[in-house]
Amino acid sequence: MTQKTLLSGIQPSGKLMIGNYLGVLKQWTSMQEDYRCFFPLVDLHAITVRQDPNLLRERCYQFVALYIACGLNPQKSTIFIQSHVPQHSELAWLLNCFSYMGELNRMTQFKDKSQRHANNINSGLFGYPVLMSADILLYQSDLIPVGEDQKQHLELCRNLAHRLNHEYATEKSPLFTIPEPYIPPKSSGGRIMSLQDPSVKMSKSDSNEQNVVFLLDEAKSIEKKIKRSVTDSGSEILYDEKNKPGLANLLTIFSLVSGNTIESIVDSYQGKGYGHLKVDLAEALIEHLRPLQERYHELSSDRGEIDNILKKGAETAKNVAQKTLSAVQNTIGLV
Ligand code: TRP
Repeated sequence: MTQKTLLSGIQPSGKLMIGNYLGVLKQWTSMQEDYRCFFPLVDLHAITVRQDPNLLRERCYQFVALYIACGLNPQKSTIFIQSHVPQHSELAWLLNCFSYMGELNRMTQFKDKSQRHANNINSGLFGYPVLMSADILLYQSDLIPVGEDQKQHLELCRNLAHRLNHEYATEKSPLFTIPEPYIPPKSSGGRIMSLQDPSVKMSKSDSNEQNVVFLLDEAKSIEKKIKRSVTDSGSEILYDEKNKPGLANLLTIFSLVSGNTIESIVDSYQGKGYGHLKVDLAEALIEHLRPLQERYHELSSDRGEIDNILKKGAETAKNVAQKTLSAVQNTIGLV
């Protein structure tokens, strides 16, 4: 039985936060036991909006060190920076020639981002999902864990793969594996919402830092943010996403960091108030992040080590990616 290939990417923008960890990175660490994993840090996607060059570089190092501090193992998974593997840009160009303006124009993320960055609607932003398709197809990926907001992009990727497979159908194996969305087992992660507005997802790029607990936040700041998080005016502790979304979010976080079920947490807080829960949650969260922060600080003091990991990751990735790229170049008639 051959191992399935799983790939997912994060943009080096903003700062990694508990939603990335509890919702995504933790899942990745368990997936690396069962799948052949590729985890590109997608810097070429990040530059579709303006970035400060020094900040971007620092963030890339910080994100990689945090990946490892969170439990990603470079011996098991291929961790690399997208721009270190030029095959991504090359395949993206080829795929651009098979992508229609109409279908890219329908992408809701493009519409959103064009509104938010109205003074910089560049063609990289327009072609963003094509580059993402290249990321996925280069590695013949079977499974892509993505959130709701990326489903449309994955669908486009599948369409492109079908399109080329169909156009260049041969007796031999198809050019591309058709990727499937990976739906994690229900118990394994969580959708973490903003602390001040629990109707939207917590975002690593949120400009209001009060909404977000970052992985490198200090204890004091975590305490403050949790204490000030928005809950309803009631007092009874129960899990009700609709009517008590703020409290439901805190309970979700508590469950994920303590390993206890939401029901058992609710049970143990009967007769106690929100304040009590918040104090305990802050403490649990601080303790949960402590070892991770310690590993991060150790690692980040040795940039040479991170460079080595990235070099090795890029080599592994290149070998796989070049096979696909060569097959595509050959198939479409490039000499
Ligand atoms: N677009 C994704 C996001 O913003 C990041 C990404 C880039 C990605 N390439 C990918 C995710 C490939 C999964 C697979 O979240």
